[in-house]
Amino acid sequence: MSKVTIVGAGNVGATAANVLAHKDLVKEVVILDIKGDFAQGKALDSYQQASVDGFSTRLTGTSDYADTANSDIVVITAGIPRKPGMSRDDLISTNAKIVTMVTRSIMEHSKNPIIIVVSNPLDVMTYAAYKASGLPKSRVFGMAGILDTARYRAFLSMALDVSSKDIQAMLLGGHGDTMVPLPRYTTVSGIPVTELIGEEELEAIVQRTKKGGGELVKLMGTSAWYAPGAAAAQMVAAILRDEQRIFPCCAFLEGEYGQDGIFLGVPVKLGKDGISELLELKLNEAEMKLMHDSADAVRDVLEVYKGMNV
Ligand code: NAI
Ligand code: 2OP
Repeated sequence: MSKVTIVGAGNVGATAANVLAHKDLVKEVVILDIKGDFAQGKALDSYQQASVDGFSTRLTGTSDYADTANSDIVVITAGIPRKPGMSRDDLISTNAKIVTMVTRSIMEHSKNPIIIVVSNPLDVMTYAAYKASGLPKSRVFGMAGILDTARYRAFLSMALDVSSKDIQAMLLGGHGDTMVPLPRYTTVSGIPVTELIGEEELEAIVQRTKKGGGELVKLMGTSAWYAPGAAAAQMVAAILRDEQRIFPCCAFLEGEYGQDGIFLGVPVKLGKDGISELLELKLNEAEMKLMHDSADAVRDVLEVYKGMNV
């Protein structure tokens, strides 16, 4: 694979491009933005960093979809982010049109790309890109779970005073306040997390994780970008290297977890053809209920999207 396109040269898109370039895995990263020369500026600045940090990936910026031709992977970050007081779902009327238009334009120039959606509301925007692309479900999925588990791992790392490198965790559901971090699937160097932390403190961390995006919006006036950009780049890297890594990603469910016709966060294996396997965990009753509640919340937003007829 030799070409990755990132649509949206804003906070998340530019960060994803920059982190990906530092991994030096792909010949060319094209950044596309609707705003005039903005993407060209971001790409040029990023490529000038190559001389300092020593990578060979060429970054170019454009507002012309012809320059995205024959992309192997496309990351869609185009759209508006939330401001304080807004939920991710408030973004739907603007972002559904943007994501649909972007996906159609991408498909005019690339036959069989893998598309990773980042724009919010994530689970429904991934559905929109899936529908607009006509690609198989293995090639269209969304980034949220890596970010949400990263937040969960960061909070645990701070509470336990251990490196987040040693914390492994899984999280399911929609990318919203109903997401489902799973303490039963959380370990620290193989040690169940429940042996290291009290129930109340762990529950407080779970709750902070669920609202982790909102915490940053309050602090910064817009949503986060370093961890989201790095998480998207990590998914691209797993595909480029055909790593078959297991990540929580937003994937299309057809009966798994009792859900049908909806995109939701679940563990998947990622490699050169996109999702090679969707893993069904043996959830207990309480975990399954939380998963279904989260699916219901996503379905409400999905209905709004379907009613828009974009
Ligand atoms: P931003 O405002 O910094 O950047 C968005 C960029 O999209 C802007 O440069 C804008 O010009 C561009 N854009 C708008 N319409 C476009 C179009 N039709 N074609 C091409 N480019 C277009 O926003 P930021 O912070 O980068 O966030 C981007 C999106 O990602 C938001 O919807 C945000 O909510 C979402 N997000 C999702 C996360 C996740 O975990 N899935 C995490 C963080 C952000
Ligand atoms: C986040 O979780 C807003 O989805 C974005 O930071």
